[in-house]
Order: sequence, then C-alpha cells, then structure tokens
Amino acid sequence: MADLTSTVTLHNGVKMPRVGLGVFQVEEGEEVVQSVKAALEAGYRSIDTAAIYGNEEGVGKAIAESAIPREELFITTKLWNSEQGYESTLAAFEESMKKLGLDYLDLYLIHWPVPAKGEYKNTWKAFEKLYKDGKIRAIGVSNFKIHHLEDLMAECEIKPMVNQVEYHPRLTQKELHEFCKRHQIQLEAWSPLMQGGLLEEPTLVEIANKYNKSTAQVIIRWDYQNEVVTIPKSVKAHRIVENADIFDFELTAEEIANIDALNQDKRIGPDPDEFNRA
Ligand SMILES: NC(=O)c1ccc[n+]([C@@H]2O[C@H](COP(=O)([O-])OP(=O)(O)OC[C@H]3O[C@@H](n4cnc5c(N)ncnc54)[C@H](OP(=O)(O)O)[C@@H]3O)[C@@H](O)[C@H]2O)c1
Repeated sequence: MADLTSTVTLHNGVKMPRVGLGVFQVEEGEEVVQSVKAALEAGYRSIDTAAIYGNEEGVGKAIAESAIPREELFITTKLWNSEQGYESTLAAFEESMKKLGLDYLDLYLIHWPVPAKGEYKNTWKAFEKLYKDGKIRAIGVSNFKIHHLEDLMAECEIKPMVNQVEYHPRLTQKELHEFCKRHQIQLEAWSPLMQGGLLEEPTLVEIANKYNKSTAQVIIRWDYQNEVVTIPKSVKAHRIVENADIFDFELTAEEIANIDALNQDKRIGPDPDEFNRA
C-alpha cells in the first residue's frame, strides 16, 4: 500500500513525496517545532516552508532533533519577492540555509513571479547556478501562470521541476495542470484545503461519509489521485495524522469528476499577475 513515503519522480530523476506538511502561518518557535515533529513522527518526510514565513529556524530545529536520516527528508523553502535578482538570490539562499541548518536543500522555489519587478529570469539564473553547484536537488517556481512559464522557459537552461500553485476543488487550474504535465513540471497544491473553507461542502461531505473519512481526507486523496503533490497545513497533531491517512481508500472516476466539477476558478490568494508585494 502507498504511504507517506510515496513519491513522484521529477524530470531530473529526483523523487519528491506526494504528501507533505505546510507551515505557512505557523509561529516560529515552539509551534513550528512541535508541528514538524508531529509530522515526522506520523511518517511525513516532506516539509514546505518559505523565507517569508519566518519559521525556517524552527523547521531546522525539529529536523536536527529528529533521528531521521537527512536523505529521507525532502525540505522545500522559497525565495521571497524582495530578494529577487541574481546576487540577492544567492545571498538569500545562504541565509535560508543558515536558518534551516542544512548543507543542501531538496527544493527551492521562486515564491511569486512579481511581474512588476521583472527579475524572475535573473533570479532563475541564480537558481540554475545553485543547482549546478550541487546545493539544491531540485529547483522550481510558485504561482507561475502559463505565460510566466513560457516566458521563463524560452530562455532558461534548466526548466523548472515544480510549480506550486493555489489548487483546491474551487480552483482546479485545469489548463495550467495540462500545460505542466506536457512539460514534465510537477504541479504542487498550496492551500489544498482552501484553508478550511471547503470542509462542509455537501458533495465532499457525501463522499466522506461513504468512505468513513473526513472531507479533508477526501480532498487530499483527490489531490493524490490527480497526481498533484499536496502539503496540507495543521498545527494539531491529530489532524496532521488524519491528513496523512488517505492511502486506504480510492475515489471512483465519477467521484473525482464530481469534485473536479466544484471548480469556480475561485482564488483565496492573490492573482499572480497582480501580486507585487516586496
Ligand atoms: N507558494 C505559496 O504562495 C503558498 C501560499 C499559501 C500556502 N502555501 C503552502 O501551502 C501550505 C498549505 O496551505 P495553507 O496553510 O494556506 O492552508 P490549507 O492547508 O489549505 O489549510 C490549513 C487550514 O486548515 C485547517 N486544517 C488542517 N487540517 C484539517 C483537518 N483535517 N480538519 C479540519 N481543519 C483542518 C488548519 O487548521 P489547524 O492548523 O488549526 O489544524 C488551517 O486552518 C502552507 O502551509 C504553505 O506551506 C504556499
């Protein structure tokens, strides 16, 4: 049976766990340390943080205090908007690594394209350098639309391995998903649970009742069967365990289609074309 060690293979051959823990809005210190520890104990091997979350040190502390061999872990962090640019990216990467206490990173993402800044291509050059220097096992982007990817791929040497975007039953990003599949870019879902906003949705409740699962588990299973890597966040140990308990049931094709049909192209986060916050 599949479990939390189940992976997808990125286009460079690196294996990435299909379910991980997100730590957005998890407080630095005790809260993040306890969340990551609970996840690692529950069998999670993938943790998704970002420089802007302000909790890389806590993530690093939990990793350092765990007995899990480094090579079994898959750690992602992200470059914040204000640091985009070639030299500033190299410096920001070192800063993140110092905070995480790691000597290599599994996945580094450009957090947002920030079109008004016009720096994501220079930023990507620094990502390619860090990758070629062996400091990062995989490089990718986040919140990139098709046109941002096309623009980047027209010039880049190494194409992104991952695109992490808002993805849940109200925002299924069908065209973007197809595009990414065509280009061997792995799609990864942020806010997969729509930050808790979908858990009472009747279609999901009905499916959850049928399998004696929670609606959160149905959504995470839907991600899994749609081959989208997913990183639900919780600070509660029992939910961290619950969110990973999705490997003992299978949604039918009709149920998948019914969940897909909940799409309303509705974002809870900003539109990447308009988000230029530094
Ligand atoms: N790249 C980007 O721009 C970007 C943007 C947003 C997020 N992300 C990443 O994606 C991760 C996930 O997204 P997210 O944190 O925004 O939201 P999310 O995972 O969709 O939802 C988290 C919310 O759902 C609650 N929850 C979790 N499991 C639950 C369960 N089983 N039953 C009921 N409620 C549950 C959590 O509360 P409790 O914690 O109280 O359990 C929290 O309020 C982030 O942590 C971050 O790593 C990336």
